[in-house]
Amino acid sequence: MSTRCDLSPVWAELQAHFDQGGAASGRGFDIRTAFQADAGRFAALSFQAPEVFADLSKNRIDAPTLALLLELARDCGLEARRDALLRGDPVNLTEGRAVLHTALRAPAGSGAPFNDEVQASLDAMLAFAERVRRGERGEITDVVHIGIGGSDLGPAMVVQAPGAFRAPGLKLHFVSNVDGHDLAPVLRGLEARHTLFVIASKTFTTQETLANAQAAKAWFLANVEAAGAADIARHFVATSSNTAAAAAFGIDTAFGFWDWVGGRYSLWSVIGLPIAIAVGADNFRALLAGAHAMDQHFASTPLESNLPVLLGLIDIWYRNFHGFTSRSVAPYHQGLRRLPAYLQQLEMESNGKGVDLDGRPLVTGTSPVVWGEAGTNGQHAYFQMLHQGTDVIPVEFIAVKRPQHGATGELADKLADQHRKLLANCLAQSQALMQGKTAAEALTEKAPTASATLDRDVLARHRSFPGNRPSTTLLLDALTPRSLGALIALYEHRVFVTGALWGINSFDQWGVELGKALCNQLLPRFESGDTTGLDASTAGLLQRLLSA
Ligand code: F6P
Repeated sequence: MSTRCDLSPVWAELQAHFDQGGAASGRGFDIRTAFQADAGRFAALSFQAPEVFADLSKNRIDAPTLALLLELARDCGLEARRDALLRGDPVNLTEGRAVLHTALRAPAGSGAPFNDEVQASLDAMLAFAERVRRGERGEITDVVHIGIGGSDLGPAMVVQAPGAFRAPGLKLHFVSNVDGHDLAPVLRGLEARHTLFVIASKTFTTQETLANAQAAKAWFLANVEAAGAADIARHFVATSSNTAAAAAFGIDTAFGFWDWVGGRYSLWSVIGLPIAIAVGADNFRALLAGAHAMDQHFASTPLESNLPVLLGLIDIWYRNFHGFTSRSVAPYHQGLRRLPAYLQQLEMESNGKGVDLDGRPLVTGTSPVVWGEAGTNGQHAYFQMLHQGTDVIPVEFIAVKRPQHGATGELADKLADQHRKLLANCLAQSQALMQGKTAAEALTEKAPTASATLDRDVLARHRSFPGNRPSTTLLLDALTPRSLGALIALYEHRVFVTGALWGINSFDQWGVELGKALCNQLLPRFESGDTTGLDASTAGLLQRLLSA
């Protein structure tokens, strides 16, 4: 039994199946024909997981393809690898660690690994968040969260999402970039005495976060009269697994966590403190409960209807057989506008790998490029390319049935109408991607801007769409802490599934180290101007940047 899917005999069967061409399941598969041939296609290919309904029917799959993909998953021991993950085996082999973000959302008394420590840490973090919300940490009006990567993207994304649950009167700001243009405008509007800084860094060694934290500390000391260590201790807290480094910074309220929480999987830990401050303890627990419900679905639902597994298998089908190199995410909810950025780290840092667990170079593609933008904005930017460009890019639509505008009277009616427009746009885009339009159809239309000089046939070719472009639609009933928790956990497990089948370690990120090391070597040269030993390009650019 192999753990690397391209070495499984089922891989060769899938390749043969793909190469059949014609109207069969592989290369020549046409989604439109499949719908015509099978009235039950939507019912057969739509799935209900906790909080998330998924329509997979507009994908280039059918029963024989899915059966082979599921056989591949079983042949590669996916279930055993999933169980090892959830049990707490050291599946992050290159760092010798377990990967237990699922333990962070397991309820008290569940028997999950480290349950007592997790509950104690959660209770302490939530109690602190509630004190801040109730004004018991002084009159705090603004919370500035300083962190980057996994110590920023998750909390920043979640805090924007359930807008209806946000604490009134408390403003949250997120600063991540080492570029001072990120921090400076945030500080400009703040009153130091009413500001709480949360310094979030798993390692507490990250250049960007430490630079921003030092700058914030200097600003605080300059803006609070006769400020001393006690004021720093009161206005700066840390969330980190390196609490000693936080203490050395002058922080005495530090919420610690464990090395088995990966940075990009850490929003469920104390790294979620700004979320808890924003939405309160009960809503934070609901976020965890939603994720836990998805964990249980992943752990025990048969692979045939296990949503993270199915999404992961379609990812493999597209990436490795169809050769699609990217996937676009289009959340049709303004509250999910940071989801694509969050998913970029989750998926590309996890699965952007070139060797398998034994260090052997991979011959198959791994992580696709994941990108996107909230709908309908994306429609007026890059959707042109999705519809008529030369590359096929599967799109993932996310729609929310019930809005929570928090409006009343006429405004509520107007916004309800806008929500119908939003949903209609979402459905129309996946329809258009699939349906397309032939040149013959285009010829029958009266083009609104038809040129007098251009041949009608030529114009029809410009106005035609290939169609047969695949998409998945995920539906939530409402965007609540619980449904958001389930949605994020769905993505986490799907990334695990593809990583496991590729036979890679989804939980390390050595690829970010070289740039960090070279940056540290270059930094002193910005003082000295020394270009000795540098390549000509880097030396030339440095000289230009340093020139008067
Ligand atoms: O540079 C990548 C990375 O290590 C991410 O994996 C991580 O989420 C981010 O930096 C921030 O790290 P830390 O939380 O230790 O500051």
